[in-house]
Amino acid sequence: MYLELIQIRKTFVNPKQDTEVVAIDRIDLQIEKGQFISIVGPSGCGKTSLLRIISGLENSYEGDVFLDGKKIQKPESEVGLVFQQYALFPWRTMCKNIEIGLEIMGMRKSERRAIAMEYIRSFGMSGFEDRYPYQLSGGMQQRVAIARTLIMNPKVVLMDEPFGSLDSQTRNDMQEFLMDLRQKRNDTILFVTHNVDESVFLSDRIVVLSKRPARILRIFEINTPHPRDRTSKVANDIRREVIEILRQERISHSPVNN
Ligand SMILES: Nc1ncnc2c1ncn2[C@@H]1O[C@H](COP(=O)(O)OP(=O)(O)O)[C@@H](O)[C@H]1O
Ligand SMILES: [Mg+2]
Repeated sequence: MYLELIQIRKTFVNPKQDTEVVAIDRIDLQIEKGQFISIVGPSGCGKTSLLRIISGLENSYEGDVFLDGKKIQKPESEVGLVFQQYALFPWRTMCKNIEIGLEIMGMRKSERRAIAMEYIRSFGMSGFEDRYPYQLSGGMQQRVAIARTLIMNPKVVLMDEPFGSLDSQTRNDMQEFLMDLRQKRNDTILFVTHNVDESVFLSDRIVVLSKRPARILRIFEINTPHPRDRTSKVANDIRREVIEILRQERISHSPVNN
């Protein structure tokens, strides 16, 4: 298995009451190379915590994460991250933002610039390479953030609500952009969203999490080819089911927390 989560459990200490809060309760998940997996779940259920664990940013948790046979224990360049806040460097141009990983690796300037310019071209951003982040639209800033991550050819890309701050039209455009990209590159992507439509449009599998502590409630497989019709019967049926599971979860009583 390419990416494997085994019995992941995460607790936080609430310093005021000196009590433990269980954020993630024994999650097992197996992801094949080239799969696009969405994770949906109520806000505050533990999605970001789960991505932080996979990315190696979190060091106190139970369980194991294996990527391509190797245990993840610290941040690795093999794991790419894209967050909702673009986190671009405001003092660097588009091109210099995209190059940054290659620069840190020590690649020669002319070489890294050529690779970054190729990303800029294929991402439809030619002519903007010398602009600064504040001169770019939200959609373009997010494409820069994606290019900056993919240029390192990570083994897995973790995206945490990457389109959450975009208006709905730009969001749809970005979903289509991401799907086009994926047809060409076949990246392995773990995509957190609380937008059910988005998960149905994009994913090979949708993992539905419970409210905190996060457990897996259901996994949906979606095999329809891309580009997908957002209003097809299959899409509507899955959407309805996911929304219903999340609704039930909201109105159910909280389990005792630990
Ligand atoms: N650093 C922290 N210290 C204490 N509690 C935290 C910390 N980070 C997250 N939590 C708690 O863990 C739960 C899950 O958080 P998070 O993973 O950010 O949820 P999500 O991304 O699904 O909204 C939340 O209830 C939050 O209050
Ligand atoms: Mg989150």
